[in-house]
Amino acid sequence: MAFATYPSLQGKAVFITGGASGIGASMVRHFAAQGARVGFIDVDDAAATALLLELGDTATYRHCDVRDIDALKAAIAAFETACAGHVDVLVNNAANDDRHDVDTVDVEYWDNRMSINLRPQFFAAQAVRAGMARVGGGSIVNLGSIVVQMAAGDCVAYVTAKGAVHGMTRALARDFGGTHKPHRIPPHVFAVLFGLLLGFYDGFFGPGTGTFWTVAFVLLQGLDLRRATGHTKVVNFASNLVALLFFLAAGQVLWLVGLLMGAGQALGAFIGAHLVLNRGIRFIRVFFLCVVALTLARLLYTTYLR
Ligand SMILES: NC(=O)c1ccc[n+]([C@@H]2O[C@H](COP(=O)([O-])OP(=O)(O)OC[C@H]3O[C@@H](n4cnc5c(N)ncnc54)[C@H](O)[C@@H]3O)[C@@H](O)[C@H]2O)c1
Repeated sequence: MAFATYPSLQGKAVFITGGASGIGASMVRHFAAQGARVGFIDVDDAAATALLLELGDTATYRHCDVRDIDALKAAIAAFETACAGHVDVLVNNAANDDRHDVDTVDVEYWDNRMSINLRPQFFAAQAVRAGMARVGGGSIVNLGSIVVQMAAGDCVAYVTAKGAVHGMTRALARDFGGTHKPHRIPPHVFAVLFGLLLGFYDGFFGPGTGTFWTVAFVLLQGLDLRRATGHTKVVNFASNLVALLFFLAAGQVLWLVGLLMGAGQALGAFIGAHLVLNRGIRFIRVFFLCVVALTLARLLYTTYLR
C-alpha cells in the first residue's frame, strides 16, 4: 500500500508514549517512514524490541512506565538532548482501557487508572513546552476516545480520564497557544533601535505610532497580538508623558480637553482590556485590521484628495 510523503516531517523530533504496540506502534512506523526522528517509550520491552528490529535505527526506545512522572520527564529530557534540545511532536498515546465493574472500583484502582490515562498526558506536555517555545512551536497530540461521546459502560474510570484529556487539551491550547515566538532581534537592540526610531517618528509626525509598535512587537519580538497590544500601551504612554512634560514646560496645555481625553482613554482601556481577555486574539485581529485600514484611508485622503 502506498502512502503520501510529507516533507515537512523530515527530521522532526517525534516522541510517542506507548509506542511499542497497537496504534502507538503504527505511529512510530509511519513517522519513521516520513524521515522523522522517532523516540518511543513503553513498558512492553518484547514488543518494543520486535519493532526496533523491523525499523532499524530510524527509531529509539526507552523503557518507561508513564505512571512514574520523574522517569517520564527523564525520558523526554534524554530524547530532547539527542534531538538538538527540543521535541517537535509529542504524541500522548499510552493508555489502558481495562474494563471494570463500577462496584469493584476502589480508590487505589481509580488513582491507578488516572495515573496512566490522564496524569502523564499533562506532565509530558508540560515537559516539552519550553523546548517547543524556544523553536517557535510544535504539536502536542493527545489521544482521546469516542467512548466519552458514547458514554460506554464497564469502563467509567477510563471514560472519565479520556473526557478529562479532552478538557485538558482545550485548556492547554489556551495556555500554550499564546506562547511567544523567538526574538528576531535581541530585546535590548530592539528597545534602543525602535525606541529612538518610533520615538522620533511620534514626536515628528505621530499618526499610526501604536500600530507600528504593535507590528514591530509581533514581527521582531515574537509576541502574540494580545501581549503586543499591551506592550504598545506602555510605550505609547511613555512618549505621551514626555510630550506632556514638554507642553507643560512651554505652558501650552489645554487642561479641560486633556483631562476629558484622559478619562475617555481610561474608560476605553478598561472596556478594551476586558474585551480582549474575554474574546481573545481574534477580536484584536479584526479590530486591529479595521484601525489600520481606517488610518491608511485617512492618510491617502489627506495626502492626495484634500
Ligand atoms: N483501539 C481503539 O479502538 C481506540 C479507540 C479510541 C481511542 N483509543 C486510544 O488510542 C490510544 C492507543 O490505543 P491502542 O488500542 O493502541 O492501545 P493498546 O492498549 O493496544 O496500546 C497501548 C500501549 O501503551 C502501552 N502502555 C500501557 N500502559 C503503559 C504504561 N503505564 N507506561 C507506558 N506504556 C504503557 C502498552 O504497552 C501499549 O504498547 C490510547 O490512548 C487509546 O485510549 C484507542
